Amino acid sequence: MSKNGQSKPNNQPAGPCVMVIFGASGDLTRRKLIPALYNLAAANLLPSRFAIVGFAFDPLTTESFRKQLNDEVQSFETAALDPKLWQSILERTFYIQGDFKDPAAFQQLKEKVEQADLDYHTEGNRFFYLAVAPGFFSEIVKQLGQAGLVQQQNGHWSRVIIEKPFGHDLDSARQLNADIKKVLDESQIYRIDHYLGKETVQNIMVFRFGNSIFEPIWNRSFIDHVQITAAESVGVEHRGAYYERAGALRDMVPNHLFQLVTLTAMEPPVSFEADAVRQKQAEVLHAIQPSSPEDVLQNMVRGQYGAGAEGTQPALGYRAEPNVAPDSATETFVALKLSLDNWRWAGVPFYLRTGKRLGKRVTEIAIQFRRTPFVLFRNTPIKELQPNRLLIQIQPNEGISLSFGAKVPGPVMNLGVVKMDFDYARYFGSAPSTGYERLLYDCMIGDATLFQRADTLEAAWKILQPVLDVWSALPPRNFPNYAAGSWGPPEAEALLARDGREWREPD
Ligand code: BG6
Repeated sequence: MSKNGQSKPNNQPAGPCVMVIFGASGDLTRRKLIPALYNLAAANLLPSRFAIVGFAFDPLTTESFRKQLNDEVQSFETAALDPKLWQSILERTFYIQGDFKDPAAFQQLKEKVEQADLDYHTEGNRFFYLAVAPGFFSEIVKQLGQAGLVQQQNGHWSRVIIEKPFGHDLDSARQLNADIKKVLDESQIYRIDHYLGKETVQNIMVFRFGNSIFEPIWNRSFIDHVQITAAESVGVEHRGAYYERAGALRDMVPNHLFQLVTLTAMEPPVSFEADAVRQKQAEVLHAIQPSSPEDVLQNMVRGQYGAGAEGTQPALGYRAEPNVAPDSATETFVALKLSLDNWRWAGVPFYLRTGKRLGKRVTEIAIQFRRTPFVLFRNTPIKELQPNRLLIQIQPNEGISLSFGAKVPGPVMNLGVVKMDFDYARYFGSAPSTGYERLLYDCMIGDATLFQRADTLEAAWKILQPVLDVWSALPPRNFPNYAAGSWGPPEAEALLARDGREWREPD
């Protein structure tokens, strides 16, 4: 059962509804949302009684909006389109031009949604996707409330999906939560994190709790430390203006990286019901030790890329990218050491790193187990034993691999590290996906498990606020401090070296 008591359909189309997209003329709509809706339709999961209403400031009409989507769909589709199915989606797509602050535009929107209810028998159910700059979140929710678009009456539901970034720091996240909760009940709010749409991220819970052999060793008695890497080879691309204000810490850590931390570290929930899972995730964040300014200086590393290379091509430094200040102090790399103060994890550091323009694109979680005692091997040619490592690969390769030592065949005792590999695509084949399908579908069926709760987000910002404070009080003096195409600044290596460890070099 989902939160609102609705039974979770098993591969059934979601119930009738209208989807309203704010920021419909923007990138996210054509790159991800529309292709994801098409994929849902192709998988027979989109309701037959369904309509899309796009709302944005750009001067488009329904006709020109449809044409724009149609002209661009081939660049973003994840599999060849069935023209009939695609047409049936376009025909149910409408556009309202308006200002997000204009109550009259919201009245027009209301009329359009009510008309769609009549024409497509969508029964007054609706969800609103806020694919807009974060500065508009509160205003749009307020306008939706004033226009009477989010009331849930007579069994009709109304939900709002809010994109990241959710706040800029702890105070602004609290303020945003307070603003939207004046209008919406928490059960109507779906704070999206697209990392939770990734199959391998969803698989972490199944892997941990659906198998009996891993959970007994998933703790400080067996695990030495955990490394989480989310590395990108690209730079900031065309997003300099946004990134200058955000930086790597805000852009990736309170959302994507903390999702990976909580799923790796959480206790087993009693069910997959939204609040059972999210409660266990929240407990992980509450167990992370707060940082003093000294901890920040010691355990949190920041970096910014200078000129270097992407593969064989030369790459610009961050400060030379469009819309970036020539003396920018924005970090494009962070590495953090976190300590979880609970029974399962006390003494097991979690090392996190993320950055732009790193050696390659890779997101992975490496669980490193403790070394075995060496005594048995003292009088053999073996110099050292490699600890076992479980690698959860999230992208670009999706899979799980376990490495262990094995005797190299031959008359002398020599040890090699070998791997047992599970490759998602090879085993299951890979379904075409934008990563948004499951999240949109879950919102339509009222399952908030893969969305973030207000308190979890605030807990995440609370952990990072001391870092933001110290970093803004002490501007970096050595930026740029890593070359594009490298694995980050030397301080990141030193962070682990101090503990007698090193970062795993991604394969
Ligand atoms: C986004 C960030 O949320 O996630 C981007 O704003 C980042 O800066 C992206 O590139 C990474 O997502 P993915 O799915 O490519 O790992």
